[in-house]
This record gives sequence, structure tokens and C-alpha cells, in this order.
Amino acid sequence: MGSHYGSLILGLLVLAGILPSSSATTRRFQFNVEWKNVTRLCHTKQLLTVNGKYPGPTINVNEGDNVEIKVRNSVARNTTIHWHGVRQLRTGWADGPAYVTQCPIQGGHTYTYKFTVVGQRGTLWWHAHFSWQRVSVHGAFIINPQMPFPFSTPVQAEIPILLGEWWNEDTEMTEMEMMLYGDGPNASDAYTINGLPGSIYPCSNKDTFVQAVERGKTYLLRIINAALNQELFFTVANHTLTVVEVDAVYTKPFRTTAIMITPGQTTNVLLTANQFPDSTGMFVMAARPYLTSVFPFDNSTTIGFLKYKGTFTKQIISPYTSLPRTLPRMEDTTFASTFFKKLRSLASAEYPCNVPKRIDKRVIVTISLNLQDCPPNETCKGYQGKRFFASMNNQSFVRPTMSILECHYRNLSTNATTSDFPDKPPHAFDYTGVDPVTQNMNTEFGTKLLAVPYGTKLEIVLQDTGFLNVENHPIHVHGHNFFIVAKGFGNFNAAKDPARYNLVDPQERNTVAVPVGGWAAIRLNADNPGVWFIHCHLEEHTTWGLAMGLIVKSGQGPSQCLLPPPNDFPSC
Ligand SMILES: *[C@@H]1O[C@H](CO)[C@@H](O)[C@H](O)[C@H]1NC(C)=O
Ligand SMILES: *[C@@H]1O[C@H](CO)[C@@H](O)[C@H](O)[C@H]1NC(C)=O
Ligand SMILES: *[C@@H]1O[C@H](CO)[C@@H](O)[C@H](O)[C@H]1NC(C)=O
Ligand SMILES: *[C@@H]1O[C@H](CO)[C@@H](O)[C@H](O)[C@H]1NC(C)=O
Ligand SMILES: *[C@@H]1O[C@H](CO)[C@@H](O)[C@H](O)[C@H]1NC(C)=O
Ligand SMILES: *[C@@H]1O[C@H](CO)[C@@H](O)[C@H](O)[C@H]1NC(C)=O
Ligand SMILES: *[C@@H]1O[C@H](CO)[C@@H](O)[C@H](O)[C@H]1NC(C)=O
Ligand SMILES: *[C@@H]1O[C@H](CO)[C@@H](O)[C@H](O)[C@H]1NC(C)=O
Ligand SMILES: *[C@@H]1O[C@H](CO)[C@@H](O)[C@H](O)[C@H]1NC(C)=O
Repeated sequence: MGSHYGSLILGLLVLAGILPSSSATTRRFQFNVEWKNVTRLCHTKQLLTVNGKYPGPTINVNEGDNVEIKVRNSVARNTTIHWHGVRQLRTGWADGPAYVTQCPIQGGHTYTYKFTVVGQRGTLWWHAHFSWQRVSVHGAFIINPQMPFPFSTPVQAEIPILLGEWWNEDTEMTEMEMMLYGDGPNASDAYTINGLPGSIYPCSNKDTFVQAVERGKTYLLRIINAALNQELFFTVANHTLTVVEVDAVYTKPFRTTAIMITPGQTTNVLLTANQFPDSTGMFVMAARPYLTSVFPFDNSTTIGFLKYKGTFTKQIISPYTSLPRTLPRMEDTTFASTFFKKLRSLASAEYPCNVPKRIDKRVIVTISLNLQDCPPNETCKGYQGKRFFASMNNQSFVRPTMSILECHYRNLSTNATTSDFPDKPPHAFDYTGVDPVTQNMNTEFGTKLLAVPYGTKLEIVLQDTGFLNVENHPIHVHGHNFFIVAKGFGNFNAAKDPARYNLVDPQERNTVAVPVGGWAAIRLNADNPGVWFIHCHLEEHTTWGLAMGLIVKSGQGPSQCLLPPPNDFPSC
């Protein structure tokens, strides 16, 4: 009897989401980091991969599962893997950013990432978090929901769409050259859909993504922007997309002809195959950049096809004739900002929107590109013969040579990091109105972290600046989801702007597109003790220091502290 009641109570706690399901399954995966020769655009090169796959394998788990991924590093490079968007409640040891949470997994070594997927469902992804390895070391991370989808349309199939970027050259060299000369990186040679550039590029007819669909059926596209350095627009000719989820959080459904998606973000859309194709049976899908940068960029377009099942006279991939009219122009900021304005949390009884209504602390953080004078012993190829850097509140993040999380956990005093990250810009100025090139654009270097007590209701206002140029920045927060309560162009005004915050159904996500020449106010509940990386998901900007660390201190309660590190935790 007793155990009956016990399990009933347990079951209720599980249903209420308080405890992970005790019947939770442990799902185990093996990742082998290895080289693989891959050919695209007539260029063959050695690519760093997981299990020889490009893109990497899809991780498919159920909400509530314990997940164990054994990563064996079989190459003479350091590596780490990040489970992008997985909350990692109390398991920061498994988060992955090199030298923030962990020392790298060195060549010949193994580390098993262990965590539980609680209170999250939908499309996330995983990628290497060392150097620029994520260019090819990435894949989908799908959490199947416990309850049925909150939309009534039956889904015929779920289709991951990973948008990526391909360089003909070795990207290790691209990154090295950029660091050596302080210049912007060489632009990529192609964008890709599921690793395939599509028939507009040379030698790529056979490297074109084709998805078969049945007329009358509805498909769930799980779209992930895994590109290194570019925000992207995505569309499918003649078909409407209904957005139902972003960053593994359901949204109020809305119809759109195209989406804008930044590196780090995911977007689920429903697509109903309700068109009457021509004799090819094909409809083009396409992605190209949303452009706000002044650096050399890849302005090309990747395409794939929806292929209706049936008898069509032409059974081959037709060389593409024209791009969908619904593909936004590369400079279409109006499309981007209108699109993001339509995103709203579902905010239903089953999936409430738990946005903090009041805050304990507001932090204002400027996002800048910077220029430093060239040291006399170096050759610099950045603007005016200087070196490019980037910063948050004029702090250019320097990665230490140990795990910050481990030092924090073990109370190790170190002079490498300090917890005095400024909670407002060191100097107030007309952030978005400055002359982009005549200012003093120097920055400070260091590893300053922002430390907050457990349970702090934190607001962070991310403010773009005009140093060098205004730009859209996708800022990713590790270990927490946040709510985007408002965005605006120009400078944030603390006296006026909070009055128009959406505290009812703002979009909840893990990566925010801070508008070009504008700001975004995000709110989060700092309920996950540990050390968390906050950074721009344009890899070139992270490399230049556009990053910071957030320490969430342990609370008093038994479940409010970080768990001990695993036995196989890598050391430096
Ligand atoms: C890739 O190709 C190079 C040159 O052809 C060859 O030396 C190398 O062994 C190949 N690597 C793999 C992992 O197949
Ligand atoms: C980058 O582009 C420049 C100019 O085309 C070229 O000289 C250089 O070799 C490229 N870098 C790499 C790593 O291929
Ligand atoms: C797709 O849309 C274009 C532009 O609206 C139209 O010209 C074309 O006929 C449509 N194609 C089909 C097969 O319906
Ligand atoms: C892309 O850039 C190249 C070089 O600047 C230019 O020649 C080409 O017209 C551009 N293509 C598009 C589609 O804008
Ligand atoms: C230039 O000198 C500085 C200071 O001595 C040193 O840190 C840096 O590594 C040197 N750069 C190169 C390219 O040798
Ligand atoms: C670190 O310090 C805190 C507070 O002083 C203490 O509770 C904790 O046990 C210490 N942790 C370790 C690993 O020594
Ligand atoms: C930190 O710096 C202080 C002052 O420079 C020095 O006395 C102390 O030994 C340093 N501590 C560590 C752990 O390096
Ligand atoms: C950033 O720091 C550098 C170096 O201390 C300083 O010269 C510059 O004026 C600062 N800029 C801003 C905007 O605070
Ligand atoms: C790998 O990381 C370790 C620990 O930080 C470091 O000592 C080593 O030099 C790195 N190795 C390579 C090949 O970068």
C-alpha cells in the first residue's frame, strides 16, 4: 500500500514537473571526433566530424531522459561539445565551452557528458565549442515532448534543416590568419542545407538537398542556423510557413512567407504541401544572408527542393531557374524586425510564460567592435592597419587556461578572473550615434565575470554601438532561457522604454538577435548555479572577445547548488 501511495505522489510530482521521471530512461550515445575527407564545390578537404558525418548525427531523446554522450577525441586537436540550449540544471560540468566550464578533451581522451533534459521540448542542437570547430562539428538535438504537440494539424514527418557554411579552404587556417593579422576572416564559399550547397554553386548539382513530400500532408521543419558568421533568411517557394516554436519553446502560431534566423537559433515551422507543381514536381527552398556587417561576406544563396511524390515528366533535379520571390533582400532589416515582432510565447495553461514581472537587478551591456594599434613586431591588416577586437561594456573577454567553473566550485583563488564585470557601460555616450571611425575604439582585456545570487531576477539590456559600424548581433546565454521583453532602434532609454515591455507573452529563447543599431532587453531567472558563458554567436566576434561570464552563486536549498564534478572531468 505504502509504496503505492509513494509512487502516486512521486508520479504527481513528476507530472507537476518538480521531479524528473523516476522511470526516466538513460539514453547513451557515442561520439567519435575524427577526420573525414569531404568534397563540396569540387574541393576535397579534411573535415573534423563526429562519427564521420557532415553534418553530425542527430541526437533524439524524450523529455525527462537522462542523457549520456561519450565523446572520444581521436584527433590531435583539443575539442569540447556544447549542447546548445539544454538548460544543464546543476550540471554545468556538461555545458562545454572550453575554459569557461571545462578544460578541453585532449587528443586520445574521452569525456562522457551527463545531464537530464527537464522541462524542455523541441529543437535544439549541439556543436563543438572550441576554436572554429563548430563549422563542421554540429548536429540536431531533438527532445520529443511528453504531451502531444499543442497544434492540431497532424504531422506526417519531422525534417531537420541545418543551415551551414562551407569554406573551400581549411577553416583552421582562416581563423589562424585572422588572429595573426587582426583582420576580418575570409568569407565562406557557400551556404549549405543539411551539408549540401545546392545547384547554384559549381559542381553541386548532386550536392543538392531534396525532400520528398506527399500532397495534402503537413511537415514539421526543424530549422537550425549552424552557420559560423551569418544571420540567414529562409523560404520555400509557393508555400506558407507557420512558425510554432523557437529555441525549443512553443510560440503562438503565425503564418509567414520566410523566416530570419541567426546563428544559434532554431525555428520550427509547419509546412503543408498544398500546391500544384509543374512537370518537375519541384519547389525551391532557399537561404541567403541577412547582412549588416561591413566585413567581406559571402553573398551567395543555397537552395534545395521539395519534391512532390507522383509521376512527373522530369525526374531529375532541374537546374534552378529563379529564386523564390519570397526570399527577402539581403539588406531587409524591415523584414527581420517585423518577423521578430510577431514571435510570442504560447503562454497557455500547459506551457506558461514565466517572465519575471519584477527584477532585482538591471545590467546594461554595450556591444562593440574595437580597434587596437598594431604592436611593433606584428603586421596588422585590420582597418587603418590596426587589429580588430570586440567587447561587452568595453571588456574584451580573454579565455583563461583553466576551467572557470572548476575554480569557482573549488573556491580556488586565482588572479586570472575577477567578478567585477561592470553592470553599466564605463562611459555613457551616444552609443548608436557615434561617428563609426573617428572615436577612440580601444578596449580593455580581461576575464571579468558578473556574479549574482541564486534566484536573482536579472534584466540585461544589450545595447549595440556604432564603433566601426552598427551591426546585428546574436547574443547567446548558456544555462538559462530568457524572455525578450522589448527591442528597439537607437539607444535604450531607462526612463521610457520599460513602460512598453511585454510582460505577458514575450518570446522565450536562448539566443537573441540584437537589432542593428538598436537594443534588446532580456529577463531571466538566475536559477541555475554555476558559471555561464554569454557571447555573440558570430564566431568571428567571439574570437575577438565579444563575450562575458555570468556566475550564479549557489542558494541555500538542497537543490540550489551545483552537483560535484564527474570523475572523468578533463583537466588542463
Ligand atoms: C584524406 O585525403 C588525404 C589526401 O588524399 C589522405 O592523405 C588522407 O589519408 C585522407 N584522410 C582520411 C581520413 O580519409
Ligand atoms: C584568404 O584569402 C586570401 C585572398 O584571396 C588568400 O590569399 C588566402 O590564402 C586565404 N586564406 C586561406 C586560409 O586560405
Ligand atoms: C509559384 O509562385 C509563383 C510566384 O507567385 C508563380 O508565378 C508560380 O506560378 C507558382 N508556381 C506554381 C507551380 O504554382
Ligand atoms: C556578390 O558579390 C560579388 C562581389 O562583390 C558581386 O560581383 C555579385 O554581384 C554579388 N552577388 C549578389 C547576388 O549580390
Ligand atoms: C609581439 O610582442 C608581444 C609582446 O612582447 C608578444 O606578446 C606577441 O606574442 C608578439 N607577437 C608576435 C607575432 O610575435
Ligand atoms: C567553497 O566555499 C563555500 C562557502 O565558503 C563552502 O560552502 C564550500 O563547501 C566550499 N567548497 C569547496 C569545494 O571547498
Ligand atoms: C594574486 O596576485 C597577488 C598580488 O599580485 C599575489 O600576491 C598572489 O600571490 C596572486 N595569487 C595567485 C593565486 O596567483
Ligand atoms: C575602453 O577602454 C580603453 C582602454 O582603457 C579606453 O581607452 C577607452 O576610452 C574605453 N572606451 C569606452 C567606450 O569606454
Ligand atoms: C590542449 O589543451 C591543453 C589544456 O589546456 C593544453 O595544455 C594543450 O597545449 C592543448 N593542445 C593543443 C594541441 O592545442
